[in-house]
Amino acid sequence: MSPTTDSEDAFRLSDLTIRQVTRADLPGLEWEGEYWKFREMFANLYRTSQSGRALMWVVVSPGGELIGQAFVMLNSGERDVADGASRAYVFSFRVKDKWRNRGIGTHLMAFVEDDLRRRGYQFITLNVAKENQVALRLYKRLGYKVISAQPGIWSYRDPDGVLHHVKEPAWRMMKKLTG
Ligand SMILES: CC(C)(COP(=O)(O)OP(=O)(O)OC[C@H]1O[C@@H](n2cnc3c(N)ncnc32)[C@H](O)[C@@H]1OP(=O)(O)O)[C@@H](O)C(=O)NCCC(=O)NCCS
Repeated sequence: MSPTTDSEDAFRLSDLTIRQVTRADLPGLEWEGEYWKFREMFANLYRTSQSGRALMWVVVSPGGELIGQAFVMLNSGERDVADGASRAYVFSFRVKDKWRNRGIGTHLMAFVEDDLRRRGYQFITLNVAKENQVALRLYKRLGYKVISAQPGIWSYRDPDGVLHHVKEPAWRMMKKLTG
């Protein structure tokens, strides 16, 4: 019998659901306040996903908690990373702290790659902060290669209307999908 408690101590990857975000999920993406600051970004991206230019994937625990996510830009102004045909860009890839190191991130990335392959995409690009050794190691293990250095400068507006500027030097990594 499969363990069905909603605990990070007892679960199998097959007990988890990966599905696209619904409007009702948007508050859950804020992770009990940790990502409150990205509320506007989530709402804007949700609208973009409704037009078919982006995908918002979430991992749902057996108890219905959103415990991981990966967003995919299929078609953006940056044609070299998301051209709507062969190149897609993965971002906001994360797993809730207490669920990490159990294979969920790897499982989610494999799901995202399979989905993009089915849609005909050939290249996945992503940025990873240079200091994020955990993610860098995971991406390398999954076959992503560093292709350039990025200044990692971007900004977002929080729900109070305050504009935040972020500077996070990053590696740009790419993987060619095969098969
Ligand atoms: C990066 C991140 C998404 C990885 O998620 P995760 O669910 O912990 O990923 P995994 O469990 O698949 O892999 C993490 C490590 O656990 C190990 N692991 C996987 N399954 C395991 C298991 N059953 N038991 C023990 N260890 C396991 C993996 O080997 C991996 O180590 P390695 O990459 O050194 O080989 C997560 O750390 C995170 O959310 N970080 C904060 C946000 C972030 O930095 N995102 C990336 C932005 S670019």
